Amino acid sequence: MRTPIMAANWKMNKTNAEGLAFLDYLRGKQVSSKMELMIFAPHVMLSDLVRASEPEWTIGAQNFYYEDKGAYTGEVSAPMLKAIGVSHVLIGHSERRMIFKESEEMLHEKLVKALKEEMVPVFCVGESLEERKNGAHFSKVTQQLNSALEGIEAEKIRKMVIAYEPIWAIGTGETATAGDAEEMCAHIRKHMERLFGSIAEELRILYGGSVKPSNVKEILGCPNIDGALVGGASLQADDFIALATGGNDV
Ligand code: PGA
Repeated sequence: MRTPIMAANWKMNKTNAEGLAFLDYLRGKQVSSKMELMIFAPHVMLSDLVRASEPEWTIGAQNFYYEDKGAYTGEVSAPMLKAIGVSHVLIGHSERRMIFKESEEMLHEKLVKALKEEMVPVFCVGESLEERKNGAHFSKVTQQLNSALEGIEAEKIRKMVIAYEPIWAIGTGETATAGDAEEMCAHIRKHMERLFGSIAEELRILYGGSVKPSNVKEILGCPNIDGALVGGASLQADDFIALATGGNDV
């Protein structure tokens, strides 16, 4: 069975003190979740969050560069993250692809590096509104996976997590219907099976894009969706707790 994941992507939000207060609040509420809880936080607070985290929570990085060290001003490497106890990284988020112009080649290098370092990559894919309107959403996501995974062996991807995040649903309040999200996540699993065989059954595939306490239950109920990657609604601790415990009844 695949353990579901509830992952917070804080993006460029919260100070160090606010991040720590969030963890304290979570601890105080004694949240008991059947899901694996992950928080992808800004680099500056990772070290403190790892120290303040409960063993069952995962603190992850939103970004890293694929070289170990050197003249890469402003960047952070995978070994640096590992050295402070960070084991999980986001790769391929649409904001990195679009705002920071990260190319498919770069995302492939990052994925290879994360796997080589035995970190857990949460690799994001997803189509634009135009691609969906043109019926190109399946081929777009297939191509993103092919390009990122080229030459990678099946054994290496066992712990990899994939997040389907349609760009038009991120931060817009517009969620894909549970049916659309499930259809794409099933497509992703089938494609992973084509590429890597039966390991695809073990892979956790998340949905992301305007997930909130009122719609998470329906999303989590889909057979090929193993959790959610949440931006906006993960910033308030009470909302995150509601997400982590399966959502509000609506
Ligand atoms: P959102 O962001 O939940 O605010 O739509 C999701 C994400 O970007 O991971």
